[in-house]
Amino acid sequence: MDDRFSPAAYLDDRKARVDKALREVLPGPEAPPALLHQAIHYSLFAGGKRLRPILALAAAEAVGAEADALLPLVAPLELIHTYSLIHDDLPAMDDDDLRRGIPTNHRVYGEDLAILAGDALQALAFGLLADPHRAPTICPEARLAAVYELAVASGSGGLVGGQVLDLRTPPPPEPTPSDGPERASALATLDGIHARKTGALIRAAVRIGAILGGATSAQLAALSRYGEGIGLAFQIADDLLDVDATPEEMGKATHKDGRHHKWAYPGVVGREASRTIAQRWIDGALDAIGPFDERAEPLRGLARFILDRRS
Ligand code: IPE
Ligand code: IPE
Ligand code: MG
Ligand code: MG
Ligand code: MG
Repeated sequence: MDDRFSPAAYLDDRKARVDKALREVLPGPEAPPALLHQAIHYSLFAGGKRLRPILALAAAEAVGAEADALLPLVAPLELIHTYSLIHDDLPAMDDDDLRRGIPTNHRVYGEDLAILAGDALQALAFGLLADPHRAPTICPEARLAAVYELAVASGSGGLVGGQVLDLRTPPPPEPTPSDGPERASALATLDGIHARKTGALIRAAVRIGAILGGATSAQLAALSRYGEGIGLAFQIADDLLDVDATPEEMGKATHKDGRHHKWAYPGVVGREASRTIAQRWIDGALDAIGPFDERAEPLRGLARFILDRRS
């Protein structure tokens, strides 16, 4: 990579590769039961930035691995993410009607199929990652470590735990404290939710790419810090886009966090402080991978993209 690195071109190129891998590894929409597989394809191929598999590929590249060989093993990250979106939109959770620019899964297939499509996506993800016939050059130890990372990040201490906190933590105080221990406590609550519901899978994506790419333990520690920083910044950006972007840009409803009294950054600390805090996480992430050579340029570009994005 050189200084002409363009995040947009990189993202387009990697997204096409991830989409191709997803089509290759998934049962087709006609596989029985066809209704279930159609529901899966409906949400999975509606669009989506594919950021989590792309981060895994970029992390593998940063430690000198040939990223393409890992595609079948990083594509499952998108299955976990898509399952989490399908469930997140359910009436019992955020009750949303629009996702990736089209009606949400349950609006088209019904709540029963949406729940089951999510369940199937989750199991499919682990099956694909554990399948020794995919990316057979990857050693069993690295594959097992990747399965473990994905399980921990998806589970009760990660994504699912974060969704529970998102739904059940009593609403933030109003008016929100401008400083002092109450503000510190509000920020800690926010970060506790964000690090789990969104940060954990993003951090795991980076770590999985690094592990499969053969990272040293020092490289893995640095990349974990990078993953943690961009993961938190990613959800702060999502919260900011909820107040600043349009449904057309986002492909989902906006201005919902305030209406639903959600623990979201701009509502609790204001737009400006939200942006400053997110920038601080991005700076910390860039600092963590400072010692990496030019092969980490995609990771650097992706960190900047996370805050600059408009979708
Ligand atoms: C949206 O994730 C949900 C959050 C975790 C904030 P993305 O913004 O990555 O959604 P897609 O995959 O591009 O649709
Ligand atoms: C979703 O957070 C996090 C997930 C695990 C899916 P949000 O509820 O803020 O995501 P959007 O705004 O609906 O995409
Ligand atoms: Mg939610
Ligand atoms: Mg939501
Ligand atoms: Mg949101």
